[in-house]
Amino acid sequence: MTSLNIGSLVEINNDFTVKNRLFKSAMSEQLGDKYHNPTTGLFQVYKTWAEGGIGLSVTGNVMIDRTALGEPKNVVLDEQSDLSLFEQWAKAGKVNNSKIWMQLNHPGKQIPSFLSKEPVAPSAISLGKGLDKAFNKPRALTEPEIIAIIDKFATSAKFAKDAGFDGVQIHGAHGYLVSQFLSARHNKREDKWGGSLENRMRFVVELYDAMRSKVGSEFPIGIKLNSADYMKGGFTPEESMQVIKKLGDIGIDLIEISGGTYESPSMVGHKIKDSTKAREAYFLDYAEQARSIVSTKLVVTGGFRSTKAMNNALASGATDMVGLARPLAIYPHLPNQAMQDELFTAFVPTPTTGLRGVDKMAMLSITWFETQIARIAKGKSPKSDLSAWVTVIGIMKDMGRQAFKPRRA
Ligand SMILES: Cc1cc2nc3c(=O)[nH]c(=O)nc-3n(C[C@H](O)[C@H](O)[C@H](O)COP(=O)(O)O)c2cc1C
Repeated sequence: MTSLNIGSLVEINNDFTVKNRLFKSAMSEQLGDKYHNPTTGLFQVYKTWAEGGIGLSVTGNVMIDRTALGEPKNVVLDEQSDLSLFEQWAKAGKVNNSKIWMQLNHPGKQIPSFLSKEPVAPSAISLGKGLDKAFNKPRALTEPEIIAIIDKFATSAKFAKDAGFDGVQIHGAHGYLVSQFLSARHNKREDKWGGSLENRMRFVVELYDAMRSKVGSEFPIGIKLNSADYMKGGFTPEESMQVIKKLGDIGIDLIEISGGTYESPSMVGHKIKDSTKAREAYFLDYAEQARSIVSTKLVVTGGFRSTKAMNNALASGATDMVGLARPLAIYPHLPNQAMQDELFTAFVPTPTTGLRGVDKMAMLSITWFETQIARIAKGKSPKSDLSAWVTVIGIMKDMGRQAFKPRRA
């Protein structure tokens, strides 16, 4: 077994190499303007990450349909977008020989009720775990609507390519539309888009094919996929493995492994065993299995904090890249630091006001990191000791009455 380290070059496909193994995983920045175009703050954030040494950055989820936003300040890429702003975003993410991909998403039913009265989903099934109050019950998509959504994903991918992004990533994880189609808990359709796993994966397969035919054979297309959604009757690890096999066979360039949904947010450590957390990489065992069935390049995201754990994961052969999200919101120069210091460990706090109810309502496990990204957007340094109240007050100022309405897990 060769011993790889985070500083080594990685070839994603014959035409696409990344200068090191560090992969910035998507974080929804909430820095879109009122037309859902990217702002100068976003350019600053991605330039900072690129200067910090990241090999490949994936943007926060960009929506493919402006009538289906997951969060109020999402960026949308469609015919109405100002492509010149996306060009500036791509350019900022490419300084210092960094690469930047755009994550494309449709939230399906994971749209907070204040953003949509009637979201769409594979089937008319509400979110569980008490989320049904904050997220309206969806209606089932018609077949022409499914085809139109697939087309929108492909169109957004083509625009991303035209704007200068180096690749795109399908958001197939965390309970959004692609993940809803894959899950037997959420997809109870009786047509060719539901039922057997083959039918449930038709949406993502056709999505990939449609994108591929619009962007050509060389432009990288990746996917973020759940190892499981950790819900009764939901997407299982065995099913996920079969989806990985299929996506590998049809030519996807990179598979990022995560897990969880709004109902059970394992992507940020919920229901992950303490022993796994101590090893840092939440989904490494699953990646090891995936590695045995596909030769597609893999990224494992969730839990990495130290150079040692990152290098161990790479040396194990289970993953080709190391995915990082929250640590980069606090340490934007983490790649340069971690590549220079094998004892480096990022300290990523669990932000709290001391009042559990307030923490939950303000969604601090997400929003506190958004506050850090907003600081970077203004050219300031993030602050690991930033009071959780700064985030709470900021949300209240920004969102008024909506401040405490759940908008994600
Ligand atoms: C503020 C915030 C926003 C996020 N937004 C996205 C997103 O848009 N798309 C996505 O795939 N994952 C998103 N995630 C999940 C991360 O990409 C990642 O899977 C998770 O945080 C675990 O990795 P970490 O332990 O390195 O933070 C987000 C996480 C945070 C903290």
